[in-house]
Amino acid sequence: MSRLVVISNRVAPIREGKIAAGGLAVGVYDALRQNGGIWFGWNGEVGQKPETACESAGNITYVTLGLSKPDYNEYYRGFSNATLWPIFHYRIDLARYSREEYLGYRRVNAMLAEKLKPLLRPDDILWVHDYHLIPFAAACRQLGIGNRIGFFLHIPFPTTEVLTAVPPHRDLFQTLCDYDLVGFQTESDRMAFQDYVCRELDGLIGTDGSLTACGRNFRAGVYPIGVMPDDIRRLADSYRGRRPMIGRTAEGKLRKTLISVDRLDYSKGLVERFLAYEQFLEHYPEHRRNVELIQIAPTSRTDVKTYRAIRKQLETVAGHVNGRLADLDWMPLHYLNKSLERRTLMGLFRTANVGLVTPLRDGMNLVAKEYVAAQNPADPGVLVLSRFAGAAHELGAALIVNPYDCLGMAEAMDRALRMPLEERKERYEDMMRALRAADLNAWRDNFLRDLRTFGRHRVVTASR
Ligand code: F6P
Repeated sequence: MSRLVVISNRVAPIREGKIAAGGLAVGVYDALRQNGGIWFGWNGEVGQKPETACESAGNITYVTLGLSKPDYNEYYRGFSNATLWPIFHYRIDLARYSREEYLGYRRVNAMLAEKLKPLLRPDDILWVHDYHLIPFAAACRQLGIGNRIGFFLHIPFPTTEVLTAVPPHRDLFQTLCDYDLVGFQTESDRMAFQDYVCRELDGLIGTDGSLTACGRNFRAGVYPIGVMPDDIRRLADSYRGRRPMIGRTAEGKLRKTLISVDRLDYSKGLVERFLAYEQFLEHYPEHRRNVELIQIAPTSRTDVKTYRAIRKQLETVAGHVNGRLADLDWMPLHYLNKSLERRTLMGLFRTANVGLVTPLRDGMNLVAKEYVAAQNPADPGVLVLSRFAGAAHELGAALIVNPYDCLGMAEAMDRALRMPLEERKERYEDMMRALRAADLNAWRDNFLRDLRTFGRHRVVTASR
């Protein structure tokens, strides 16, 4: 069996049995744990010479390197997170572009390919993850690396009209044709990619479903990332911590809780969610003092301007909601900028009556799947889910909302809190079937099966 080499921007080695939170980290770790292999990428340090260091744990070898300050600024902070991230999340208004940063992004991709090359064996399979590394395969091909290389995009792939806002879009996105297989979270993402290839790269769709463009023949497919529902259930079962908000109403009743967990990011729709919650308490005053919203939002990318701005805005809105509605014996909104240990999180999901997952745009959103998997089958909570999360393509039995419609979200919160047990169970069982049908193993196995099946990279013309 060929060896698996995973390449992602950030490598998250296991420390004391814990893995960094986040869909990509959890997914990649589980993918590697099965048969072993190499996980290659940035160690998260800035201001270092890019020299590789190796560390093995179990059957995984972590090969990491630091980034110099200019590399970090141009590749990670600049082009990846100030140009690509907002545009891929339909926020052209928040994007900025600098040619220097784009060149830095290409330079770092080329440098990473060079560092990886000496570690490779001819039959290794390379699996590249996410928007930081779009031109990685092209850099490998330039170095003569002929291995099978697949790419998986964890975030949404926007429509052609939006994507062409990236100034060097053709120069960059034609490099996706250097992969053997390009994977997406949803069918809409795959269709948007196919549309871009046909319209902007003069690509053709073959009768076998393959794509030919820029002198390359390759495949695109849909591989929704999933979770391991039984592992999550066990974690939630094993949580022995106290219920976080043990606040009781004046009558001694336990308050109901709504829970949200997001990296602090403008794509997550937190401002809209807080305002919807305020409207919910206004329109349905009977819930006042009887509910609490817990928002866990660890900070992220704090040296990117737009992230500093959204953080300030959220502090204002959270203060506004509590200032207006809280009382001496009741705090309606608990807003925490910290991350929690995974077991604690699953325990919180278990006790929360409602999971609120309402991003403005999201590739998948594994919190939605984790919330469902953590429920008690005999008395499950209700998932309120944005139609703009990739997870909505599979979890149609959630209460689907439009996060731009504050009143609509307020109504969904009320409905979720009042939902009868029979309906909650039916929806839960429906969603659990979907989680089981496309779990994390299926994501990995289907992607790697297709990457192996579709053979080596095929050049169909001599030049591009
Ligand atoms: O899921 C999108 C993503 O950008 C991943 O690539 C990344 O691991 C995660 O979010 C966290 O982002 P960052 O590495 O910028 O903190």
